[in-house]
Amino acid sequence: MLSHDILIVGGGLAGLAAALQADPSLSIAIISKVHPLRSHSVAAQGGINAALGNHPEGRDDNWEKHTYDTIKGSDFLADQDAAELLCREAIPMIYELEKLGVPFSRFPGGVIAQRPFGGAGFPRTCYAADRTGLVIMHTLFEHVWRRRIKIYSEWLVVKLLVEHGVCQGVVVYDLTSGLIFPVRAKAVIFATGGYGRVYLKTTNAYINHGSGIGIAYKAGVPLKDMEFVQFHPTSLYSKNILITEGARGEGGYLINRHGRRFMADYAPQAMELAPRDIVARAIQTEIDRGNGFENEYVLLDLRHLGAEKIKKRLPSVRDICLRFAGLDPIEKPIPIQPAQHYSMGGIDVDIRGATCLPGFYAAGECACVSVHGANRLGGNSLLETIVFGKIAGREASRYVKNSHIREANPSFMEAEARKIDERVEAWMSRRDGEKVHRLLNRLKVIMTEKVGIFRNEKDLALALEEIRNIREDYEKRGYLAGHNRRYSQEMVNMLEFEYMLDLCEVITMGALARRETRGSHYRLDYPERNDKDWLKHTIVTWKEGRPILSYKPVVITKYSPVTRLY
Ligand code: FUM
Repeated sequence: MLSHDILIVGGGLAGLAAALQADPSLSIAIISKVHPLRSHSVAAQGGINAALGNHPEGRDDNWEKHTYDTIKGSDFLADQDAAELLCREAIPMIYELEKLGVPFSRFPGGVIAQRPFGGAGFPRTCYAADRTGLVIMHTLFEHVWRRRIKIYSEWLVVKLLVEHGVCQGVVVYDLTSGLIFPVRAKAVIFATGGYGRVYLKTTNAYINHGSGIGIAYKAGVPLKDMEFVQFHPTSLYSKNILITEGARGEGGYLINRHGRRFMADYAPQAMELAPRDIVARAIQTEIDRGNGFENEYVLLDLRHLGAEKIKKRLPSVRDICLRFAGLDPIEKPIPIQPAQHYSMGGIDVDIRGATCLPGFYAAGECACVSVHGANRLGGNSLLETIVFGKIAGREASRYVKNSHIREANPSFMEAEARKIDERVEAWMSRRDGEKVHRLLNRLKVIMTEKVGIFRNEKDLALALEEIRNIREDYEKRGYLAGHNRRYSQEMVNMLEFEYMLDLCEVITMGALARRETRGSHYRLDYPERNDKDWLKHTIVTWKEGRPILSYKPVVITKYSPVTRLY
């Protein structure tokens, strides 16, 4: 049986950072659903935050101010010890990336360039034009390659193996051979990313099904704060490709159909650079009030920035507009609308990246430490992937070296893989029923219509009912029309769909229970934040065949919650 000391699941930034930090004397491997350079981290555009103080208006910045902005941006739901760690580590981490070879944009004089981003008191977002995720990914990937870390590409992890109360490995579906089999590991790190594709409108890649989060949940690992779903304010109308916050950071305006910079009504000081929850709600409100275009979008106007700045700082934005909207932002404003972008919630981990399951770690978007609380600031997710990816790699190595791990029984592992194989056979033996893409579409519609930017009790209850109906159809009538197991996207979707249903159920349950408004979770029927009853993390645990809700306190070090004004 294939065996490694540490298995890292996910080849995006958190996974690569974990692999590079793991102890090189151990046998380390990365399993990725796609080639690592096709991971969604490559789509991150605008930048990565660190209080370097390089910008002329950012000389007074420091990591504590970054921490406060992060906590305030989170609507005070972030654990403050974790936010402190993130922001303190940010500065040495950027210089480490620089030494590894990341080609950051520079100010004249040579220091790393920084731009303003939403919710930040100073311009502290370091960038490489608008291709920051792409260049960091390529740099880290080169180092992973140089270190000859084993990579299994186009393998989908479908289950965590737990025996004797510890994590013992995973079951994979190898798309290249069509086979399903177990892989043994002393420690497993999930860096599997987010679940954006459970929504109709999302900036996320097609691979972002979130099954890693669901796999952890079904293995008994609790999920935290799943009701907090980030909607990015500016996705390209109808295609929903990300138009970076960097475009507003460089000075772009949001304009309604009356030609008005409407953010003056929602965040008079920060304007377009308020945090994402506020800007996304403002845009949606303008559209709902009939101040948008075709009841669908508003405009992002960059024309006043001039051709030179747009070409130099926002080349991908221009390229995306030219290719996917047939317009040049140098000459015309960009039609934009909010779209699902990020999950603040995820697998419940501590600041070491450890879960309650010995030997199982998580980092990046699939994990919830929590540094983002109820709303993440732009530029903090790339940061989290590297800082906490590294921590998870280090901690998993420590665990492997220091623990006496009782080996799993190979026949148990083979039997677990066989159960999944038999399930696939059963799906293939059905002659008709519901195809997974139709079920997935129903799920996307309900999540978009009822669990979106604005929420209320009636819609959330209806969503929960519909999610459970879809599950019943999946279980009773789901089938695989194609019978070829190699490179079967239908099989991938079918295997992941169970977990997508789990996530949607947990998101909706948490949202229904949380009778307040906080960050990205806006309840029309409870429009105020309620610290007395709700300054706490939501925990959902799969126990005895059903989801159980509980809560745990937020870690407050020194920042008392105040009203968020921008
Ligand atoms: O808008 C952006 O460039 C996205 C950045 C982020 O999500 O951190």
